[in-house]
Amino acid sequence: MIEIGIIGAGAMGSGIAQVVAQAGHEVTIIDTNDAALQKAMVTLAATMDKLVAKGKLSAAEADAIQKRTHYRNSYSDFAKCELIIEAIVENLDIKKKVFAEVETYVSDTCILASNTSSLSLTAIASACTRPDRVIGIHFFNPAPLMALVEIIPALQTHLIHVAEIKKLVESWKKVPVLCKDTPGFIVNRVARPFYGEAIRIYEEGIADFATIDQAMREKGFKMGPFELMDMIGNDVNYAVTESVFTAFYYDPRYKPSFTQKKLNEAGWLGRKTGKGYYDYSEGLEKPVPSDNAELKERISSRILAMLINEAFDAAYLNVATEEDIDLAMTKGVNYPKGLITWAKEIGLKECVKCLDDLYESYHEDRYRCSVGLRKAAANH
Ligand code: NAI
Repeated sequence: MIEIGIIGAGAMGSGIAQVVAQAGHEVTIIDTNDAALQKAMVTLAATMDKLVAKGKLSAAEADAIQKRTHYRNSYSDFAKCELIIEAIVENLDIKKKVFAEVETYVSDTCILASNTSSLSLTAIASACTRPDRVIGIHFFNPAPLMALVEIIPALQTHLIHVAEIKKLVESWKKVPVLCKDTPGFIVNRVARPFYGEAIRIYEEGIADFATIDQAMREKGFKMGPFELMDMIGNDVNYAVTESVFTAFYYDPRYKPSFTQKKLNEAGWLGRKTGKGYYDYSEGLEKPVPSDNAELKERISSRILAMLINEAFDAAYLNVATEEDIDLAMTKGVNYPKGLITWAKEIGLKECVKCLDDLYESYHEDRYRCSVGLRKAAANH
């Protein structure tokens, strides 16, 4: 079994290390910050204790997993690794510098992967003398619990590595999906309207946060958009929206909102600051959603139609296959159904009509129906 190196012992790096150590790999984690390494070690020990207490691992297995995990601070410890997964700060210049440096320490056969959620793999690969061995392996948070892994070849990546990484990810009992190196990959692109359209509906005064959240929960989503944004953090969610919007050359479909910007300016980042769209102060009653069924249906069908439009557009532009797009949304963000499957259940013509009606009302490019969805509806 190959040895794996991880750069960055933060939330993602330590979670990925746990996944691969549990799968049986020797893993070496490197971080420039000793406190982060120390924290990763303590967290892994606590997680292992919990899994043993729950009967999910034997004490011997938990011990072996920890012995297979090595905490170091020099790239020279990567000499025997056949795969490196980078999970450091989301900054292209820093990542390029790190890749160029790491490449001088690893073997000729070592694959270099990044866990970036928004940066171009092609740009990262360009920093290496052998860009053909650079690839994206994008986990979801928390890595040990979320099944989905997006595999993103850079323009320069040799195809053989795509097949190798897919097999490896499957051996970790994860669900790999293959995705073109485009902004937001699959999940962070297709999911944008879940947040953006919900905020737009609120801004128009159609409903309050609680009612919009309730409408989406009634459609089968585990959490509504506003409670989810509060959990993710409005700073993180806004940054992803802004980065996707910029990367798509300011396509109005992905436009960020003033509502969320203002929350960030106020420091109302969500659960982590005790206030976001909702106030999490102790003893406060949760706001009560409207019980107007027609209103909730109107809200949820509008958001769902926008999500379906994104899914068909991504498939039409060959970002990923329809099957992988459905897998990505169910396994990466726990959607109750794949959006393409869901659209076929609703009726593709019905979805087109919903979008055309929105376009007719607003005359905004944001509501244009994807040619992919329109063609699929015509042929269905
Ligand atoms: P984090 O801030 O929790 O951890 C980053 C770690 O990298 C820190 O411990 C820091 O000390 C270390 N670091 C920074 N520069 C370094 C360097 N030059 N060499 C070695 N270590 C270095 O960040 P997080 O959330 O784990 O994110 C890491 C990457 O994963 C980012 O690219 C992010 O976009 C991506 N990602 C994050 C997800 C999330 O939900 N947090 C989900 C999927 C991907």
